[in-house]
Amino acid sequence: MQDLKVLTREEKDGLDVPRISGDQITENSFGKKVYIESYGCQMNFADSEVVTSILQENGYVTTSNVKEANTILLNTCAIRENAEHKIRHRLQVFTHLKAKNPALTIGILGCMAERLKTKLIDEEKIVDLVAGPDAYRDLPSLLEEVSDGQKAINVFLSREETYGNIEPVRLNSNGVTAMVSIMRGCDNMCTFCVVPYTRGRERSRDLPSILLECEKLVAQGYREVTLLGQNVDSYKWTSESGSLVNFAQLLEAVALVSPLLRVRFSTSHPKDITDEVLHTMKKYDNICKNIHLPAQSGSNRILELMKRSYTREWYLERIQSIRAILGEECGISQDMIAGFCTETEEDHQDTLRLLAEVEYDFGYMFAYSERPGTPAEKKLTDDVPEDVKMRRLQEIIDLQRIHSAKRNEMWVGRKVQVLVEGDSKKSSLHHYGKIDSNKVVVFPKGKEVKGDYVFVNVTHCTSGTLLGELC
Ligand code: SAH
Ligand code: SF4
Ligand code: F3S
Repeated sequence: MQDLKVLTREEKDGLDVPRISGDQITENSFGKKVYIESYGCQMNFADSEVVTSILQENGYVTTSNVKEANTILLNTCAIRENAEHKIRHRLQVFTHLKAKNPALTIGILGCMAERLKTKLIDEEKIVDLVAGPDAYRDLPSLLEEVSDGQKAINVFLSREETYGNIEPVRLNSNGVTAMVSIMRGCDNMCTFCVVPYTRGRERSRDLPSILLECEKLVAQGYREVTLLGQNVDSYKWTSESGSLVNFAQLLEAVALVSPLLRVRFSTSHPKDITDEVLHTMKKYDNICKNIHLPAQSGSNRILELMKRSYTREWYLERIQSIRAILGEECGISQDMIAGFCTETEEDHQDTLRLLAEVEYDFGYMFAYSERPGTPAEKKLTDDVPEDVKMRRLQEIIDLQRIHSAKRNEMWVGRKVQVLVEGDSKKSSLHHYGKIDSNKVVVFPKGKEVKGDYVFVNVTHCTSGTLLGELC
């Protein structure tokens, strides 16, 4: 099934095309050239940076030209059926390459690898290697096994692995913004979601290694980090002396790394986001005033069936707190699922009413896609007809588009601070960057360079972008 959407998270962040690792050629790399293509969420992209680091440590080099690689690795996503379709399609393309070059190694990493395990080797005859999200330290020995003529698989899910001590190799980097993984896995078990099965139990990365990574990024000229986790609000780490660090404290520690470093985070869970986090955001100018708060539905009956552990009223109270503590300007975005099991027209209207009440800046909206092995697949019936799902999804998207435009118009006529990220996609005469609340701003270039903070007068906007001129 095709997802209809305003923009996916990947598209908004410029990640809509699969990410391909860059060229890093060194001596003695003959026979060890790896091409990595990544799909899915930011966490998967961050994992590919860890994978590249592990491979480089072991004498491999990465190439962006698939034709010169002797190993192809696909880092995959399993969140919706069409995510897996895309991967199967890519595997067909690689089948042709392997037909011409039987020595080529093809490996599947990530969430689809974890979900399907040996099935991928059995079904897709060209796959030589399968590694789940917690098995990346084992990749060099898995690749050795393959070079000895065997099929190699490791889909063991760990309770401890955080790759904390691995310094990621930044891929497709603009040199200004970077992702920093702070935790892995998820314990929430929302009934529609495959993530707890593909990424395992929740665990938090140690604070010192997170801070060290951020300090190194600043020294290299980076000016923004996004702290990543499926549910950042449940970050929990205990130091050797026994003191417990929660997400608000982690956020504060990262904000203190450098006043030049902006801090973002994703994803917050409505049941867990605390006022302590909101007050910490308010306290530090360099913590961006933007919160991604997936709702999934506006109907209490559906939220209960999804096991989201909050009600519409609870969710709206959290929105009120955000507005009260951080003000109207704080960006708020949502994820919404249309057509979950048994969803009625009334439930759908509740979702539209929630949208109208919150007036989000942005949204990522999906038609429900049943995932094998999830509680919803086992206990509920995917009974909303496809055409109804798609119509409801379109209604949600249309309303969100109106709100996005309205929330962008709010900035017209104002002076905003922008972190310059690079040339605008459409013109090398323009720079683009983001404001604190995550809106993209495009403006004619002046003397500034990537990584600078500049002030821009916003003169007009589209539903996706603010346009302006340097002050
Ligand atoms: N941890 C985050 C979301 C991770 S998955 C959270 O709890 O909010 C990203 C988004 O994909 C989800 O928010 C949800 O909107 C969507 N999604 C997950 N499973 C889905 C499914 N089976 N069908 C359609 N959309 C799904
Ligand atoms: Fe999936 Fe729910 Fe965990 Fe998000 S919180 S990853 S939707 S189980
Ligand atoms: Fe991310 Fe897709 Fe896995 S959304 S966590 S790569 S299933």
